[in-house]
Amino acid sequence: MTQSLQPSSESFDPTEFRKALGTFATGVTIITARAADGTPIGLTANSFNSVSLDPPLVLWSLANNAMSFDAFRNALHWAVHVLGSDQEDLSGRFARRGEDKFSGLDTDEGEGGVPLLRGCAARFQCRTATQYQGGDHLIFIGEVLRFDRDEAAPLVFHGGKYAHATRRDPPDIKPRSAHLAGSFGEDFLGYLLGRSHFRFFAQIRPFLDHEGLDDMEFYVLSTLTLKPLLTEGQIAEGLAGVLDANRQRALDGLVERGFARRTAADGFELTDGGREAAIRLIAAAKAVESQVLERLGTGDAVILKTTLNRLLGVVDESAADVLWQSGEGERKG
Ligand SMILES: Cc1cc2nc3c(=O)[nH]c(=O)nc-3n(C[C@H](O)[C@H](O)[C@H](O)COP(=O)(O)O)c2cc1C
Repeated sequence: MTQSLQPSSESFDPTEFRKALGTFATGVTIITARAADGTPIGLTANSFNSVSLDPPLVLWSLANNAMSFDAFRNALHWAVHVLGSDQEDLSGRFARRGEDKFSGLDTDEGEGGVPLLRGCAARFQCRTATQYQGGDHLIFIGEVLRFDRDEAAPLVFHGGKYAHATRRDPPDIKPRSAHLAGSFGEDFLGYLLGRSHFRFFAQIRPFLDHEGLDDMEFYVLSTLTLKPLLTEGQIAEGLAGVLDANRQRALDGLVERGFARRTAADGFELTDGGREAAIRLIAAAKAVESQVLERLGTGDAVILKTTLNRLLGVVDESAADVLWQSGEGERKG
């Protein structure tokens, strides 16, 4: 069954060659199979590609030095899992040599007993049709016996790094440009961020009104959920640059209304009533978020959040890391 493809005799700088190949953006897959002794095997591979629609054929290639090489070469069946944008950790796990990659994972059983992973963008269950020796890799061509797919956004690999794919704007959505030369224009970052924030927040405000809170009181209340006890300085740090002039008034307002109280240790904490109101508001805000992100599409939602986090890192180096990172542990303690 195995045929041989002769490599070119020309030699390249291997690093440059890798870099040049890396300019080709691909999806990321995990290929699984079962070794002759029944052990599940699998590895991350981006060499996957479609070959033929009729008959349905796909291909991928496996390094000759992979620990799973013999098992894959002898396997009659294997499955290709196209990973979704939220499966980077799984990709990392299956790219580590020889580990027990399946430990703790829920799997289904596919054709020929092949372990099938869950939560992927698509799965192709295949039977080996042909193998070609291609230099330092073995190329597998498989006949697709079954497949299934989900609407998940794909994980992308480009230039040796994971990436997300985003759709290009449809032609009818063009950035609106200003009439006056020298004016800000509607593709000004501040306009896009500001308007998005105000329009998004307008959908949450009715829930704040219901609790009798204004925007700043909500921000302070949310900040107080991050840790059991916060000093005034920490609250100021957490909300630095957000309606600074209104902070003290908002804090006093929350205390007056019985949502927060001053503690002996010169800090502030939520009362039971404050915590319950915060939980109600966070649930309502999350529901608004889900609706908005659903309309945007999963892939673009992930990209938007990733990019905004990176933007925050650029414009807000002092971002209140201390508050966000250690809160969970302290609450448990
Ligand atoms: C994004 C990505 C794509 C990869 N593509 C392939 C591939 O197509 N073929 C391959 O043999 N190894 C590929 N690898 C490397 C293997 O996943 C890695 O060597 C793995 O440890 C092999 O498993 P094993 O040695 O336990 O069999 C890739 C790794 C990453 C992170």
